[in-house]
Amino acid sequence: MYSEKVIEHFRNPRNVGVIEDADGVGEVGNPVCGDMMTFYVKVKDGIITDIKFKTFGCGAAIAVSSMISELVKGKNVDEALSISSKAVVEALGGLPSNKIHCSNLGAVALARAINDYKRRNGLPYENIPEPEDVEEG
Ligand code: FES
Repeated sequence: MYSEKVIEHFRNPRNVGVIEDADGVGEVGNPVCGDMMTFYVKVKDGIITDIKFKTFGCGAAIAVSSMISELVKGKNVDEALSISSKAVVEALGGLPSNKIHCSNLGAVALARAINDYKRRNGLPYENIPEPEDVEEG
């Protein structure tokens, strides 16, 4: 059911934790499954120098958070924003269809963290809406 990559990231998640003096924080919850995800980013000269996450949720949500943290570390904030939930699913070697909403949760939490950084720094930013598909996983 799960790819080896998903299982590996779930068992050994990267970048778990909190950044107390984060430059941006993004939080999202799924009201259907009750899972919650928070990303913290440190940004220097527009580059994500550090990222951590706290995920209270299913194994797929943890694997998604871990993969996102690896994909965006060292990237420019706008490059990081352009990483779609589909790209995260591909990087994980796929997710079962009833777990796709877990990847949307990750994309929204990351986008909110980056937009929080932009807002704090007087840069143009967007309010990221709730994830659209909240079907039960
Ligand atoms: Fe809700 Fe995975 S995030 S079941």
